[in-house]
Amino acid sequence: MEALKGRIEMAILNPTLACADIMHLSRDIEEVIEGGAGMLHIDIMDGHYVPNICLSFEQARAIRSAFPHVPMDLHLMVTEPFQWLKELETLRPDMAAFHLDATSFPLRMLRSIRERGIRAGVVLNPVQPVSMLEEILGELDYVLLMGVEPGFSGQIFYEPVHEKIRELSSLRTRQNRSFSIMVDGGVDFTNGPVCAREGADILVGGAFVCFGQPEGIRGSASRFVAAIDTKKEEIA
Ligand code: DX5
Ligand code: ZN
Repeated sequence: MEALKGRIEMAILNPTLACADIMHLSRDIEEVIEGGAGMLHIDIMDGHYVPNICLSFEQARAIRSAFPHVPMDLHLMVTEPFQWLKELETLRPDMAAFHLDATSFPLRMLRSIRERGIRAGVVLNPVQPVSMLEEILGELDYVLLMGVEPGFSGQIFYEPVHEKIRELSSLRTRQNRSFSIMVDGGVDFTNGPVCAREGADILVGGAFVCFGQPEGIRGSASRFVAAIDTKKEEIA
């Protein structure tokens, strides 16, 4: 995770375990890692912020202890992020992000996450503009830009998000900041490399990238890693 401290030269594949086979979770995790995934994305849903439930903290803890050396990020799709701080403290993921519109006190939440030794980020939904981040850019370790409305995997990427990646990336350069940009939802073999070229550092891969592909998890993950690597080289 050293790379996440600064600008990443090569985009990282971050598979969402929401799409893994719950009956073969360990096997699927081993396969994505063998395929070149650099971290694991855990979607936590409370059934209120989004009308769905996904992985639990108990499952995240089990994954953490089975794969202690693999970085983990938590994507909190919850209406009361402060209520989950205790869970975060026990789990101690490498990174955690909450939706900006879920609290009126994002600064306090970001600082509470960081105080626990976890890198802190906020999430913007597809139609929420980059300008919403203006006042907190200096407090962020990363920004998670949703490519789809949160809550369900398998939705199609919202094309205007490309412009937001470019805007955020150029803002980062202009202001000489080092936060990472993560893109989540609808990432596929076509738009993923484009997102990487536009400045995304971490790409969450789900239904279109490493799960449910005909060539299997290991094969599709490694093909995706190669595809995003090439695109980064093109802009180098
Ligand atoms: C959606 C979740 C995503 C999602 C990604 O709300 O945050 O992590 O499961 O899945 P795909 O890539 O299939 O859209
Ligand atoms: Zn997610």
